[in-house]
Formats: sequence, structure tokens, C-alpha cells
Amino acid sequence: MLTAEENAQLTRVGPGTLIGDLMRQYWIPVVLSSELVPGGRVKRVKILGEELVAFRSPSGRVGLLGEFCAHRRASLYFGRNEEAGLRCVYHGWQFEPGGRCVDMPNERPETSFQDKVTQPAYPCAERGGVVWTYMGPASRPPGLPDLEWALVPEAQRFVSKFWQDCNYLQALEGGVDPAHISFLHGILDARDDAMRRALDQAAVGFGFTSQLERAPHIEVADTETGLLIGARRDAPAGQHYWRITQYLLPFHTMPPPEVGSDPVFPSHVWIPVDDDHLVNWCISWHPTRALTADELAAFQAGSGIHITAPAPATSEAYGDIRPVASRGNDYLADWEAQRMRKFFGVPGPGAQDKALTESQGAYDRSLERLGRADLGIIRVRKRLLEAAIALRAHGTPPPGLDPATYGVRPASMLLPKDVPWVEGAKKRLTA
Ligand code: FES
Ligand SMILES: [Fe+2]
Repeated sequence: MLTAEENAQLTRVGPGTLIGDLMRQYWIPVVLSSELVPGGRVKRVKILGEELVAFRSPSGRVGLLGEFCAHRRASLYFGRNEEAGLRCVYHGWQFEPGGRCVDMPNERPETSFQDKVTQPAYPCAERGGVVWTYMGPASRPPGLPDLEWALVPEAQRFVSKFWQDCNYLQALEGGVDPAHISFLHGILDARDDAMRRALDQAAVGFGFTSQLERAPHIEVADTETGLLIGARRDAPAGQHYWRITQYLLPFHTMPPPEVGSDPVFPSHVWIPVDDDHLVNWCISWHPTRALTADELAAFQAGSGIHITAPAPATSEAYGDIRPVASRGNDYLADWEAQRMRKFFGVPGPGAQDKALTESQGAYDRSLERLGRADLGIIRVRKRLLEAAIALRAHGTPPPGLDPATYGVRPASMLLPKDVPWVEGAKKRLTA
């Protein structure tokens, strides 16, 4: 559990907050590159409590500006997307993607007022089919993170994202919580559950078929840029079955892959919209081959970590990725299935995670009771707070500004009982 003060420190993300300032040290996903058409419509976005608009100029340059015009605060969402910049339709002021006002047609030409006006603007870069932004103070941002999923050819990855009605941290904590899988995503009838089938297949692949232990032994190890969260279960022949999650500051997690000789790896990026909402980016990638048509079709249909059934789109920020499954409709739960076949009746692991993390409400961590199984969560909070406090108190650069440290993978593997897990898994954990 945390004090009320630590809870507030860890969850508030606006400008000037402890964690908000930490997150502004890193590149942040904004939208998919494909969402911004050259010369096309402007999109509202909201990140770390800041209301912004994203657009792509007719010649292809991406811009990310404060939503409200420097003149009299009209929304640039309605702006004209012209080659020289985004033009406010109220009085015609025009801002280039760097934020400079380049035209002020409602003022007489002899005035120099135009040179004194700028619109808030953040630099953008594209990698992995994603537009990233840097919202921090450095005049020279760090390099983009060398995440393997963002560096492989497009055919080797699938990226989706969905909106969640809760603070980013409780969603992220679900990503470093290996103990919930046997319950929230578990089943009563093995024929009915893809997750359990996958886990059982994994066990078969490893030469043992016992039901996965529901209380794995959890170990956590620090890495340069985050943590390894290892869930250890007994396996035959003097071995341990390890499922290892990667956490990378400040908002990346990679859960262990389904096992097989040729796994597709999963990852999440948990991006705060504001204190009470987040965008959950979900990535599936293969390091060396294109995803098969079957794999792609499954991801597009919302299998695994993906949720791809949005409610009718609105033009609000991320108004086109709000899942149909939501609190108001019990996340489409099948209560009969919950009674007879599944531990929890909501269909699909993505929606199951969404339902339970949203159900924590405005999560007051001073009221929780953490056990040994919650070790990953405890250590994530500690790393975040330590990095944020060191930055605030001493200007210490946080971990992860070296792009190469993001070149990692999660792992599911067998190791002899006498091999230390971090050492034994090292090669598998490197991209
Ligand atoms: S409010 Fe934008 S130009 Fe006047
Ligand atoms: Fe989960």
C-alpha cells in the first residue's frame, strides 16, 4: 500500500506534476501514422492532460499543436490544413508545425505582431507505423526507443489501441501482475477458453501437462531501464517453467508470449490521456517473419490482447477507439458462461483486463492490502517514484534515454532449477 500522497504523486500526470514531468522525458505514441492523411482532417488528441490537435501537411509533415488558437482560443480542430501550416478558421491565423505564426491576415501588414505569437507545439517523429511526440524540455530530445516491434518491417507487426476509463497506473499494474491470469482469464471448462488452451499447449510443448499452478513464485529483478518480473512454476525433470514480463520505464510492458517454437510477442504501451483515462496501445509482433493471414485476421477480430470493436466514433480525442464493451453494459458479460464455464464471463482477455482495472474506480492505494504475489506492482511503483523524485530533486536523467535499452523481449521458457533465472534467460530476453 501507498500513502495518500504517494498515490497522488504516482497517478497525476498534468504539466508540473512529478510523474507528468517524468513522462515528458520520453517519446510518447500519439496516433497511428495511417490516421493522418496528407492534407486531410485534423484529429483531436489528449496526452498527459494536454488538449492537442494532430495533422499531416499536404506534403506529409506531421504537426502536433495545442488545440486552442493563440489568438482567442478557438479550436484548431476546425483548422484549414494548408501547406504552410494549420490555419484557424476564426480569423485566419496560421501556424506551422513548429508553432510559429506564419500568417496573421486580420492584422495590417505593417504590424510585427505575427512574429511575437507562437502556438504550443511538440516535435513528432514516426517509427513503427506510429507517430511519436516528445513533450519534454530538452532542446534535443533523446533518440526514439529501439523497440523491436517498431523496427521490424510493417508486415511483422499488428498495432491496435483502445480507450480506458481509468488512471493509467492501475491499467499498467495489470500488465505486471502475472498472478491474475489463472483467475481473471481462467476457465472452468478447458474446451471453452483460448487462454487456457494456449497455456495448456505451452505446457505440452514443454513436456508436461499438469494444470498451471495458480500461485506461481514471483521474482523481480532490476534492469537498466526497468524490471523483469518472473513467474516461476515447477516443471518435470528438475526444471522450472519461467514466464518473464518486461517492464520498461515509464509506460511499456511486454507480457510473456504464448509458448511454441515460433511465438508472436505481445506488448502494451499505457499512455495517460489525463488523470482519469488512458489509451492502451496493444502490439503483436514477430521478430523474423511476416504475420500470417490467420494471425492478422485474429488480431483484427480482437483476439488476445487486442480490442477492435469500437462504439460509434465521435470527434473527441480518441473518440474513435472507445470499445463497445464498457461499464454501462457489463462489458458484454455472459453471466451464464461465468456460472458454468469461465472464471469471469466477459469475453476476451483484453476486455476482461479493461473491466477489472476500470472497476477499481479512483483507486485509493492507501486502502489496499498487497501480498507476495504483488511484488511486480510494488517494484514498478518504486522505480517510477525513484526516477521521478531524482529528476525533480537533482535533475538526474531518468533511465531509458539510451534507445538501445528498449531492444528487449519477454520470454516463456524452461530452465534447470539450479540456473539463476536472469542469467539463464538473458539471451532470450534480448531482441
Ligand atoms: S481565434 Fe484563431 S485566429 Fe482568431
Ligand atoms: Fe490480463
